[in-house]
Amino acid sequence: MDFHKYEKIWLVFGILSLVIFLSIVGITAFGQGHTPAGGMDTIDPEKVSEIAPFDNPGVKQLDKNTYEVALVAKAFGYEPSEIKVPVGKEIIFTLTSTDVVHSFTIKDTKVNMMVVPGRITHKSYTFDKPGKYLVLCNEYCGTGHHFMSTEIEVYE
Ligand code: CUA
Repeated sequence: MDFHKYEKIWLVFGILSLVIFLSIVGITAFGQGHTPAGGMDTIDPEKVSEIAPFDNPGVKQLDKNTYEVALVAKAFGYEPSEIKVPVGKEIIFTLTSTDVVHSFTIKDTKVNMMVVPGRITHKSYTFDKPGKYLVLCNEYCGTGHHFMSTEIEVYE
């Protein structure tokens, strides 16, 4: 029996399997790169200031009972810094980041959004009490992370 022949066959088989495996991985990675996961909105992080609604961030009334608050998160703050919204109305927070991953976490509410560069994240919330709400960044984003905060004023 020619031992070397068997060895060669196995070697060829091994290389073939590796090639097939790598092409599958490659195709999968390539495919994912071109399909935004979960139908999430994407945005060019370098052009955020030119793209609506981030070209004019802030509070905008959409209809009688709905408001949109567009915010840009960046190291180490949120733009705009002043946010005033009415109580008892649906507030849609729309956020993106221009640099690294941040969060938009409104204390004592269920709002805890991940803000990722290249993506637009939405979260709807209705405040049932007027007052001042503290917003914090819960994702470590650099030296100024602990100072990254803002405030939302909810008025009657
Ligand atoms: Cu932004 Cu931590």
